[in-house]
Amino acid sequence: MTPRISSAHILYTIAYIITGGCGGIGGTVAKSIIAKGGYVVSFDILETEAGEAKVKTYHPERAFYFKCNIADLDSVVAATAEALKVIPKGSLFGAVHCAAIAPGRQWNNKLVDSCKTFTKVLEVNVFGTFAVNAAIADAINSQYPDEGPFAPRVTEERGCIVNIASVVAQPVPARCLTYGVSKSAVLGITQGMADFLGPSGIRVNSVSPAVVASGLMSSDRLPYFQGELEAGVIFPRRITHPDEISDAILFLLENSMMNDFNIRVDGGWRGSSNWGGPNDPRKNALSLE
Ligand SMILES: NC(=O)c1ccc[n+]([C@@H]2O[C@H](COP(=O)([O-])OP(=O)(O)OC[C@H]3O[C@@H](n4cnc5c(N)ncnc54)[C@H](O)[C@@H]3O)[C@@H](O)[C@H]2O)c1
Repeated sequence: MTPRISSAHILYTIAYIITGGCGGIGGTVAKSIIAKGGYVVSFDILETEAGEAKVKTYHPERAFYFKCNIADLDSVVAATAEALKVIPKGSLFGAVHCAAIAPGRQWNNKLVDSCKTFTKVLEVNVFGTFAVNAAIADAINSQYPDEGPFAPRVTEERGCIVNIASVVAQPVPARCLTYGVSKSAVLGITQGMADFLGPSGIRVNSVSPAVVASGLMSSDRLPYFQGELEAGVIFPRRITHPDEISDAILFLLENSMMNDFNIRVDGGWRGSSNWGGPNDPRKNALSLE
């Protein structure tokens, strides 16, 4: 990575943990970090053999994989401990937290039906975000001498975490009753962690994409979303390339003054529900997430 960051880290080769590192956005950002000379450790729920095979296509020596369920704290802590063993000593600088789920259900007006998936969405997208931020911040700090819980502010920049929220985090549209709310919580976790981790020299930011062609966005959903983009975006009214998300993430990682900030990469999304129009979600959306 470009060592515009603290002098302490110029001495090291820098490593990042990428959750959801086998997915569309996670895989793209992993390759971007590697292209700048960094190491990446991907955490994902794929079986070990499949995950390792995937990340070795990113780079044979500077990409690693550990199977990890972000909704399970023990799993996150164990994978983070393994990550510290495979990267150069002292090189963990941060994380890009991409892992998430967006389960959908058949549209109807019964709101209680949305409660069924809400618990799962909260576990993975909200608890998982808190657990990942916590475990990785602790791991970054573990590379430095422990000065106790009320140590004075550190002077060196120790790291940066970027969480992935979504444009549906704020405002939350009807179509995203559970997923959207979980992404609002990602923005809240980002704010709280940024303030908490300031004394440790760890910055925390987020990126909010609109519609990106990736695993989460299966091809059968794309025609619907193309219609939403036509209705609710200023310019350009198109699907976002994963590279455009990755560029925003790298900007946040590399610029030491970026902290507690959410970048919307959305072409000026103004999406609210298009009730009664040609893109009424009750008719066209494949599911209520
Ligand atoms: N694709 C979009 O249009 C879009 C829009 C806004 C926000 N986002 C967000 O971007 C991020 C990346 O999504 P993507 O588009 O690359 O989707 P993706 O499905 O390609 O990637 C998500 C990855 O997370 C992994 N994952 C899921 N549950 C997990 C768990 N419990 N533990 C560990 N790994 C788990 C999946 O296996 C997958 O590899 C997500 O946070 C998503 O909510 C995506």
